[in-house]
Amino acid sequence: MKIGLFYGSDTGNTEEIAQIITTIIGEDNVDIHDIRKAKNSDIEKYEFLILGCPTWYDGELQSDWEDFFPNLDDIDFTGKTVALFGLGDQYGYGEWFVDGIGIIYDKIIEKGAKVVGEWPTDDYDFDESVAERDGKFVGLALDEDNESEKTEERIDMWLNQISHDFGFEI
Ligand SMILES: Cc1cc2nc3c(=O)[nH]c(=O)nc-3n(C[C@H](O)[C@H](O)[C@H](O)COP(=O)(O)O)c2cc1C
Repeated sequence: MKIGLFYGSDTGNTEEIAQIITTIIGEDNVDIHDIRKAKNSDIEKYEFLILGCPTWYDGELQSDWEDFFPNLDDIDFTGKTVALFGLGDQYGYGEWFVDGIGIIYDKIIEKGAKVVGEWPTDDYDFDESVAERDGKFVGLALDEDNESEKTEERIDMWLNQISHDFGFEI
């Protein structure tokens, strides 16, 4: 069963992470899609989804995710397992750190998704985040602006964690 990975990216960071994740899981196991070109049916056909979104402009979704967001209302996520990863800047935008994945989380939960891959907040220094629930992020938080040296290990640990829910091996 292939995984559908959908990302949006303004300046290329999230696109790069999406490609790294695809390489680690294996290109045979993942279809990678830019949300800018996606249709509802592209998402609907996957049982397992990874969604990647950076946060822009003080807590906003990345622009292509913003455009696509109303479509999520028309997608039934019942029976789908979803993992989220978000990019942000914890020092520059610490009041809105990785808010984008919190916004997507709320919507897909409302539409019936099972969301996996929650991530500890301990290793970050931020003020507030819409993506924080009960002391954890709703998905993997990455900060390419300040901590790119931690990204590889964070991705490896997170993929190991979700591999059990998704049924792939790395
Ligand atoms: C104008 C601007 C606004 C931003 N706003 C936020 C924000 O509200 N929260 C956050 O966590 N990161 C914010 N960021 C940081 C971006 O999310 C980060 O640079 C990310 O890696 C960009 O991903 P992309 O290259 O895939 O678009 C902002 C960056 C810029 C330049």
